[in-house]
Amino acid sequence: MSVDVQTISFARGAPSLDLIPVEELKASAVNAFTNDPAGTFGYGTAVGYQPLREWIAEQHDVDASRVIVTNGSLHACSMMFDRLVAPSDKIVIEQPLYDRSLLMLRQRGADLVGVALEHDGLDVAKLEDALEAGLAPKFVYVIPHFHNPGGCTLSLEKRNRLVELANEYDFLIVEDDPYRDVAFEGEPLPSMLSMDDSGERVFYMCSFTKTVCPGLRVGYAIASPSVTRDLVTAGTNTYISPGMVSESILNDFLRGGKLEPAIANVRRALRERRDALTGALREFVPEARFVVPTGGYFLWVDLPESVDTDTLAVRAAEAGVPITPGSDFSLKGGRSSMRLSYSSASPEHIRAGVERLASLINA
Ligand SMILES: Cc1ncc(COP(=O)(O)O)c(C=O)c1O
Repeated sequence: MSVDVQTISFARGAPSLDLIPVEELKASAVNAFTNDPAGTFGYGTAVGYQPLREWIAEQHDVDASRVIVTNGSLHACSMMFDRLVAPSDKIVIEQPLYDRSLLMLRQRGADLVGVALEHDGLDVAKLEDALEAGLAPKFVYVIPHFHNPGGCTLSLEKRNRLVELANEYDFLIVEDDPYRDVAFEGEPLPSMLSMDDSGERVFYMCSFTKTVCPGLRVGYAIASPSVTRDLVTAGTNTYISPGMVSESILNDFLRGGKLEPAIANVRRALRERRDALTGALREFVPEARFVVPTGGYFLWVDLPESVDTDTLAVRAAEAGVPITPGSDFSLKGGRSSMRLSYSSASPEHIRAGVERLASLINA
């Protein structure tokens, strides 16, 4: 198949329109508008649309009073950081890390301590060494499934150990988990939230952006009862309530059994796109090094040190194949790495895009 010269974006973790269950959402909108006009069109409260809040609580086997439904999960994350982070607080982050989380923590004046990612997630042994040597973080922020940007997944063993360490050394875990359902093989691993018997140690965030669509802007946080209350108060005082129309439509969608087929479609399409991307990289950029993700939206690529990805990113944008340079995700360095998203282009376009990118790298 020939592919014309058009922009093929590897930059953003956004699903292409063909991954979005448009007809099902349309039908859910009609149902929501018909069945609960008062709840759908009114203000609501900052906890979110109550039936949706209850659906989420059931999925995670927690009391609904611990759930706040927000305008996307980045919103939940921002509110959580407002509540938890004071200037100079020590916060442990994975390296590399989702650029927006990194930015939000920096903006709040956190003293960030980076711990490297391995093929199976955060280097928990390194963290343990640092804790033994006296590091006392307020929390460890972790993206446990199909990491953004690393692509890796935190192993079950490491999840258990991290929760043990949190109890032993008295720190919180902030678990940001929007990719959990985008697994190409098997099922997601248990959340650390589910391993925390106290309900006070692990705060969790998730989203419907990656499985239903970003435009709904629906995500959520699950925290301890007292922190959830604080988040709800902050919500009431700033935006009154999140979008009830979105949440009511989504509630109908979920309760109508439409999530599973939507997830199956996203998984199938993204698996093909991942294969197209890794195949094209092996063919056109054989010097590229990467861990093949088993789910999610992103591939992290290490290139030879002679390649400066800050410069490459500028050239790639000009050539219509935008990428995100590694330095955007890094406390320091990252200049010969890049993040490639495989969510927004077809397999054919991905192959053509990598070929175009390869000519820039080789130049
Ligand atoms: C780790 C992580 N958290 C949060 C978000 C934001 O998701 P949402 O669209 O629900 O705000 C993203 C989106 O890319 C992400 O990768």
